[in-house]
Formats: sequence, structure tokens, C-alpha cells
Amino acid sequence: MSMRIQFSHHGGIEVLQYLSYQPAPLGAQEVLVKNHAIGLNFIDIYYRSGLYPPPALPSGLGSEGAGVVAAIGSEVKDFQVGERVAYATAPLGAYSQLHAVPADKLVKLPDAISFEQAAAVMLKGLTVQYLLRQTYPVKAGETILWHAAAGGVGLLACQWAKALGVKLIGTVSSAQKAQSAKAAGAWQVIDYSREDVAARVLELTQEAKCPVVYDSVGKDTWETSLDCLAPRGLLVSFGNASGSVEGVNLGTLTQKGSIYITRPTLFHYANNAKNLRQMAAELFELMKSGQIKAHIGARYPLADAPQAQAQLAARKTQGSSILLP
Ligand SMILES: NC(=O)c1ccc[n+]([C@@H]2O[C@H](COP(=O)([O-])OP(=O)(O)OC[C@H]3O[C@@H](n4cnc5c(N)ncnc54)[C@H](OP(=O)(O)O)[C@@H]3O)[C@@H](O)[C@H]2O)c1
Repeated sequence: MSMRIQFSHHGGIEVLQYLSYQPAPLGAQEVLVKNHAIGLNFIDIYYRSGLYPPPALPSGLGSEGAGVVAAIGSEVKDFQVGERVAYATAPLGAYSQLHAVPADKLVKLPDAISFEQAAAVMLKGLTVQYLLRQTYPVKAGETILWHAAAGGVGLLACQWAKALGVKLIGTVSSAQKAQSAKAAGAWQVIDYSREDVAARVLELTQEAKCPVVYDSVGKDTWETSLDCLAPRGLLVSFGNASGSVEGVNLGTLTQKGSIYITRPTLFHYANNAKNLRQMAAELFELMKSGQIKAHIGARYPLADAPQAQAQLAARKTQGSSILLP
């Protein structure tokens, strides 16, 4: 038996239950991971609320964790019992003491990276990897705009951009968050709760605006993001923290300067073991060299996952939060 967070209906944090459960018999290609630390992500809130539908209810929650291999399926070749591993794209159910993860969604965790650090960076760091290095491969000297720069994904983006010689303008909602984003490597910070972002971007870029804007806030920042893009720039809309963007009039993209737009997800970039492990290797190298550090803003016992989600949704967290089983 093991303990996990489960939900049977969509709704607020009250639908999350901490229950004992019996993991299903291990599939031939699966690895049973004894979690030591679990990542808290905004996507977990979308699954709980029903914005993203889970495959079935009742359902476990969470896609990210780090721990030790407790058992392997009969056809698993790459992993052994006792090995340190981490994952970011597992089927829902990571909010748990034990989680069965398909072997092709696991990476080996270098000794230099702790379980807590791994749970803080796997999903968010791999996201930054594909956004900065694949969706739009940024070049040294470019100036880019990144919303919610003091969040979990945001603080990793500030560091990664700096490591690449890119000038990241980060938006945040408070002076304290501005300080964190600056400390992590943001070139400039704009408080979007009180400043005119488009006007500041125009000023900071000497009217050139940005070749790319990374927007995970969604509904509230959509118009602003378009206004911060140079002609033929790319809007990377990768999240919905304030609600999803709907009813887009394509003519708007013409009026704003023949804008390109993409709505990507990590699951289509880390879509096989080779891609996942290459992306993770790049992230781990930057961590080992000290260019990227995990900012763990809060740790919660697994049973307190509802409170952790409430803090994240209320914009009260900075950096990554983790759950400890
Ligand atoms: N597509 C992908 O592949 C992918 C992968 C990972 C994450 N994501 C997305 O990236 C975003 C960041 O994820 P995260 O887990 O690291 O979360 P996070 O950035 O730590 O938290 C979300 C942040 O968004 C900002 N925000 C702005 N308006 C908000 C609102 N109305 N409600 C709540 N927050 C609001 C807040 O920062 P301020 O207070 O500074 O505004 C808040 O701290 C999420 O939208 C997530 O879905 C996408």
C-alpha cells in the first residue's frame, strides 16, 4: 500500500483527497519509482479544475518527480532497482509515494543533483530548454520578453537566457518578485501590475521591440504580448495562468505586424526517450556547471498538496515548490 493524492471530480482544492491506494501490477515496460520529491506545477491545477481533462476519473495528479527505482517491469533493460531517476512527463499520479512510470519517460539522475533539485527543475527546466533552444532558438545579444519571470519556469528562464547571452525582460507582479528575477539573471524587469509593459519594452529596446515573446499568463497578457513583438516576431503562448486565450481573430496578427504564433507543450518536444534524455542532459550540464540553480521557494508534505496548489494559484509562490512524500 502507498499514499497518494487523488480526485474524483473537478473543482477547487477541496476535491483533492489524500488516500491509501494499491498501485496496479507493473506493466512490462514500466518502472516503479519510490518518490523522494515531487514537483508542483501549474498544469496540475488545470487537470484538477478540468481545463485539461484527465484520461479518467478518479485520477492521480502530477507528472514530475525524482526518486529511486523500487521495481522494474519484465522487459525493462535501461534501469535497475536502486538507481536514482527523475521524470517530468509521466502519466498523472506523481503526487504519490510510489509511481509507475514508463521506462521511456525516465532519466537517470546524476549524483550531483539532489532529488529535491530534480523535482524542482525537471518539468520546468525541460520546458525552458525547448522554448529557448527549439521553439525559437535564441541568439546571444537578442532581447526577449518573458512573462511571470519570478515563477518556477520563469526563474529558470532568467538563468538560462543569461547563460546564452540573451537579454531577458521579465514581467512580475511585485517588487519582491522583481528582485528575484533580477537576481536570477533577468536583464530588466517590468511590474505588469502597475507599469505599461508595451511602452517600457519600446523604451528598453529603443523602439525595436522583441523578436519573441514567451507568454504563459495567457488571457490577461495576450494583447500586451502582441504589442511587444517586432514585425514578423513570434508569440510563444505556452500557458494559461490567468485563463486561456480564446476567440482569436487572425486579422489581429496581420495588424500587429504579420506575427507568428505557436501554442506548444513539453509533451510534444520530449516526445521520445532520445529527445527527453538529450534535453535533460543539457539541463543537467548547466546545473553541474553552476549556471542554473534550482530555486526551491517552498516545501510541503505531500498531504498538504491542496494548500500548495492554493498558494501557487494565488501568485504567492516564487521559483519552484516541491511536495515531500
Ligand atoms: N506548455 C508547456 O510546455 C508548459 C510547461 C510548463 C509550464 N507551463 C506553463 O508555464 C506557466 C508557469 O508554470 P509554473 O508551474 O512555473 O507556475 P509559476 O510561474 O510558478 O506560477 C504562475 C505565475 O503566473 C503569474 N500569474 C499571472 N496572472 C496570474 C493569475 N491570474 N493567476 C495565477 N498566476 C498568475 C504569477 O506570477 P506574477 O505574480 O509575477 O504575475 C504566478 O506566480 C504556467 O502557465 C504553466 O501552465 C507550460
